[in-house]
Amino acid sequence: MNFEFTEEQQMIRQSARDFAERELLPGVNERDEKSEFPEKQVKMLSELGFLGMMSDPAYGGGGMDCVSYVLAMEEISKHDSAVAVIMSVCNSLVNWGLETYGNDFQKEKYLRPLASGEKIGAFLLSEPDAGSDATSQRTTAEDKGDHYLVNGTKNWITNANCASTYLLIAQTHPDKKHKGINALIVDRNSPGITLGPHENKMGMRSSDTHSVMFNDVIVPKENRIGDDGFGFTFAMKTLEGGRIGIASQALGIASGAYERALSYAKERKAFGTEIANHQAIAFKLADMAVKIENARNLCLKAAWLKDQHLPYALASSMAKLYASEAAMEVTTEAVQIHGGYGYVREYHVERLMREAKLTQIYEGTSEVQKIVISRAMLKD
Ligand code: CAA
Repeated sequence: MNFEFTEEQQMIRQSARDFAERELLPGVNERDEKSEFPEKQVKMLSELGFLGMMSDPAYGGGGMDCVSYVLAMEEISKHDSAVAVIMSVCNSLVNWGLETYGNDFQKEKYLRPLASGEKIGAFLLSEPDAGSDATSQRTTAEDKGDHYLVNGTKNWITNANCASTYLLIAQTHPDKKHKGINALIVDRNSPGITLGPHENKMGMRSSDTHSVMFNDVIVPKENRIGDDGFGFTFAMKTLEGGRIGIASQALGIASGAYERALSYAKERKAFGTEIANHQAIAFKLADMAVKIENARNLCLKAAWLKDQHLPYALASSMAKLYASEAAMEVTTEAVQIHGGYGYVREYHVERLMREAKLTQIYEGTSEVQKIVISRAMLKD
């Protein structure tokens, strides 16, 4: 077993770290406060090749492995999770889904501009009445011969406004339940698509989240991914990788909070010495460090399995569950270590704590991960 990173992986981590410190950290609190989309920062992310870092170079992607992706996601999430989630949705949901299950025509037309980072994608699964219960899709894609007619509403869609390409999950044969669901590639500018207002979120406020309404939207048949009825399996397979992205994001949020708490504890004095010298604080830091190390190992294990083309659904759910819970605990302690300063914007840890909460909710709540894990345990 080799725990060392290759030179290339270390280089990618360093490049993500430099970018995050130089370009994301300045202004992140202001963007969060104003819910301002990080347009300039996302453009730079695309120029550095991070938006399509794992995609096939034959389509203009970076061809990097999933371990590198975990390293980059951690560094970027230490400073700006709103940018990290854009990167995660593009890489592990939209690009991976198209690359793995799309046909040549779909890859040439839709994957190429996404893999090169020229365009952004969004993944539309959640609905007002279908969040964790993803089989209960109400959005319909009616089969009209050479096209589908789409009607319905999708909720909580990351990248809804900035994306050019949507991967939409919708029901075609309600009598067949989840076996009647399809995955369709939809042009964002198709007539009949409207967006709800930007969601006024607790954290990751500058990422672009809206509901999306479809009113008689025509989608050509050639835009269906896989066979008729493949859509639910497509969504589940895609989310297996998506969860590695969000787990790495949670890891970055936790390690960003820990690094800030550690340096604050070494500087701040109380009762005649730096607070790090008080066991009450030192033990907190020890617990935080162990949780982060565990989360990192779970993320890297899931990524390694994916890179080896071995099954990784269980590992990605474990990583997502553990890392997001760890992020919540570590950020809460980071605020506590900062005392009153932790409760104000300037020190970043309150923002990281708000961001941590979302990692326990999206791409499958902690409870959903426990369903996946317990079913795998009980299967045999
Ligand atoms: N791979 C392949 N097939 C799978 C699968 C997987 N990982 N997981 C389930 N399936 C199949 C099952 O085998 C079953 O098929 P058969 O009937 O043919 O055997 C079918 O799908 C239904 O599975 P279940 O009976 O297990 O379904 P369920 O209703 O009990 O729910 C669930 C399973 C795990 C809870 C699932 O609904 C789920 O993952 N829900 C959460 C959805 C989610 O993560 N949403 C996030 C939205 S995306 C997002 O947040 C992106 C963003 O913007 C940041």
